[in-house]
This record gives sequence, structure tokens and C-alpha cells, in this order.
Amino acid sequence: MSTAPTTVATDRPIPIAVASLPGIAPRLLLSDRRVEDLADYRRSGGYQPLENPDRLLGEVDESGLRGRGGAGFPLGIKLRSVREHGLRAGEAVIVANGEEGEPASVKDRWLMRHRPHLVLDGLRLAAAVVGARRGHVYVSDADAAAAIEAALLDAAEILGDLELSVLVVEAGYVSGEETAAIRAINGGPAKPSDKPPRPFEQGVAGMPTLVSNVETLAHIPHIARNGAASFRSRGTTSSPGTFLATVTGAGKPPVLYEIPHGLPFADLLAVHGVASDDVRGVLMGGYFGGLLSRDVLTGTLDHDSIRSLGGGLGCGAISLLTDQCPVAVAASVMRYFDRENAGQCGSCFNGTAAMAAVLDALRDGIAGADDLARLERWSVVLRGRGACATLDAATNVAATVLSRFPDAVADHRSGRCTTCDEAPYRTLRPFAVEIGARL
Ligand SMILES: Cc1cc2nc3c(=O)[nH]c(=O)nc-3n(C[C@H](O)[C@H](O)[C@H](O)COP(=O)(O)O)c2cc1C
Ligand code: SF4
Repeated sequence: MSTAPTTVATDRPIPIAVASLPGIAPRLLLSDRRVEDLADYRRSGGYQPLENPDRLLGEVDESGLRGRGGAGFPLGIKLRSVREHGLRAGEAVIVANGEEGEPASVKDRWLMRHRPHLVLDGLRLAAAVVGARRGHVYVSDADAAAAIEAALLDAAEILGDLELSVLVVEAGYVSGEETAAIRAINGGPAKPSDKPPRPFEQGVAGMPTLVSNVETLAHIPHIARNGAASFRSRGTTSSPGTFLATVTGAGKPPVLYEIPHGLPFADLLAVHGVASDDVRGVLMGGYFGGLLSRDVLTGTLDHDSIRSLGGGLGCGAISLLTDQCPVAVAASVMRYFDRENAGQCGSCFNGTAAMAAVLDALRDGIAGADDLARLERWSVVLRGRGACATLDAATNVAATVLSRFPDAVADHRSGRCTTCDEAPYRTLRPFAVEIGARL
């Protein structure tokens, strides 16, 4: 591996607008479209030597940093588990999960293409905390992979003995699930496997493995440099810090925002230039979180508030429904799950296909009362089944369209949806951010 810094020339910027909130200095986003190279990153204080990994672990605990890949699990707890299991096993491994299977999200690809050194710095620091000497960056975007590869060459001297490699897999909704990532790195298909064992017990090469989303890792250098209190100076007590949000829909081009947790949803709409009266609902947290009604207008963008509304912040993808019918959106998302599930668990592939058939029938005005009763029952009994949480995502969509949009459901039962009459909604990947990749 070359140790002489070279110029990163392989990256293509992502052609969407990025913005932080007025008056709030971004921690992750860059204000222009440039791709940050090693010199830029070091000038901004990156890659500082880590004197004391234990102290950093304490700061991460105190910072309250929660995973940005979907579940919002506290990073400090994960780091401790992997470190303890790694000590017993004699080795730990680290995986930066940049697969970004959610079609309406672009944040991870943006980070890897624009700030590959920030991601690698976070990876380096997390590896030091858990005692990993090996790591993998797991991606499906070829341009992101090229940016990371180039950054790895440039930072070889700084990364020292840490052995890092990049694995590119075919994009897919389930490919980013943590056990799918491990299976792929171990040479298998990028499909989920049964848990236990969980990755922190047995992951890559059977070793305790930390799987962290690339945005989660990218927050660590700020904590290492400025401490937990600085990290907590934005956000709420239980959702500290800022997060990246891909905002789509409302007839506007997508924008990637860096948002402090706790921002009123109405403030985001104002910044995005969307009238609250126009918002019919939101597909929140990616396809995983299901649909929220206009109640979201009174909420704030943090885990507690969105959970109290019956949704999840997930990976920060926020899709605004204005001219779209929620029933038709739910039908398209369910069809997506029907196509994208890994086809390994009967409850998932049969259950998702059955829910998709009922939602199609509802959208087309031919679903009966029995069909809806079945859909409602499935949305409860199928929860928690299957090797991974894809079926939970599908049941979220079914449950939320039924419970949050009773009027739209009733319109479709009686075959009188004016939205669908005027503009039928059929799409393979609702609100997907198509940025193109050099594949
Ligand atoms: C079906 C499914 C797909 C997932 N896809 C991704 C993904 O693309 N990227 C990601 O970081 N996490 C994804 N996750 C979550 C991972 O399993 C894992 O929780 C995450 O990478 C952990 O990182 P974090 O703690 O930093 O959030 C997915 C989970 C499920 C159930
Ligand atoms: S639950 Fe569904 S997506 Fe997950 S492994 Fe089983 S079949 Fe695949």
C-alpha cells in the first residue's frame, strides 16, 4: 500500500442539494459540493492521534450517540459488548455498513463519496476502542467504494496496522441488514441469517464484530475531538446530536439536510419550502417506519417524538406525501417488499405477498371487508417473524395505512378516491433517490 498522499480523483459528487439548518454549523455535511481530500480533512482537525481508547469509550457513552442505520441503538453499549467478547475471543472485527438499502435515503452514499476520510477516521477510532485490527467497509455504490479505496491509499500511514478492505455487493433492501453484511463478507450471499449468534458474539470469520452504520461512525471524530458535552450541545437528551435526513416528495427535488434532533417537523417544512396544509402524511424513516398522518405536524424530529406518533426515525429518510394517496403509496411499498425480501422465511415471503395482494386490491377498489380484516390481523400476527426485521417493516406499512388513514381506506373501499382517479400512483420504488452509479 502506498504511503505517499495522492490526490483523490475518483469521486463523483452526488448531484443533490445539501443543506444544514440556518444558524447551525454542520458537523457532517460540507457547505459546497467538493469532495474532501486528506489534506482538507487534516486541516479541519481530522485523524488526531488517539491517546486513550478507554477515555473515548467513556465519552461515547456520555455522548449518548445512537446508531443512524435504523434502530437507534446506543453506540457505547455496542462498543462495550464487542470489546468484551473480543477480549475473550482474542480478536474483534469492525464493519462500516454503507450499503444503504433504503431507496429513499442517500446520506451514507453522500458521506462516503464526499467525506471518505471522516468515515475512515470514525472507523479507525471505533476499531481502537473495540481492539479490532481488521475491518471492512461494506457498500453497494461503486462510486462510494472508489472514494473509500482512494482514501484508504492516501491515509495508509495514519491507519497503520489496521487492515481495512472494501466489499462491494449488489444493492438490495436486505443486503444492509447486519447479518447479511457478515454473511457476504464471509463469502456467502448478502442475505440475513438467523440470530443468535448476534454479530457482537460471532460475526466476520466467527469473531465478535461491530457492525455500525457509516453515519454513526462519522460522528465519532467530533466526540473524540470535542467531547461528549459538545456532541450533546445539539439535539435532545435522549436523541443527542445532529442527524442526516434525506427529504423527498412534495414535488420537489430531494435535499440532504443535517438536522439537530428535536427540530419541530413544521420548521423542516418551512426550510424545505412546503406548506403544511399541503402535507397529507409522511413515509417516515424510510420504507421501514411506515406512514404517519398529519399528526406529524405537531411532532419533533427525534426518536421519542416520532415513536409516540407510532413511527420510527429509522435512517432519517423523510418522504412527504402531498399529491399521493397513502393507500397507493402503501401498496407500492408493500410490492417492493414482496420483490425485495430474501425469500428465505415462509412467514415473510408468503405474508408479504398476501399483504401486497390485499393492498393492490384496496388501491384498485376491489377489496372486501374480509380482505381488510385479514390485512389487519396479518399486520399484528406476522410482526417479529422471519430471520430479519423486513417483515416488521411490511407489517408497519400495513398497520399504519389502516390506522392512520381510515378516510383514504374508506374512499378506496367505496371506489371513490379522487387522488387516484386524477393521478393513479404506481411506482416500483416510491420516493427513491436515483443518483446514478458508475457500475
Ligand atoms: C432489512 C434491513 C435492512 C437494513 N439495511 C441497513 C442498511 O442498508 N444500512 C445500515 O446501516 N443498516 C441497515 N440495517 C440495520 C443493520 O442491521 C444494523 O442494525 C446497523 O447497520 C447497525 O448500525 P448502527 O447501530 O450504527 O445503526 C438494516 C436492517 C434491516 C432489518
Ligand atoms: S424475514 Fe424476509 S427478508 Fe428477512 S431473511 Fe426472512 S425472508 Fe429474507
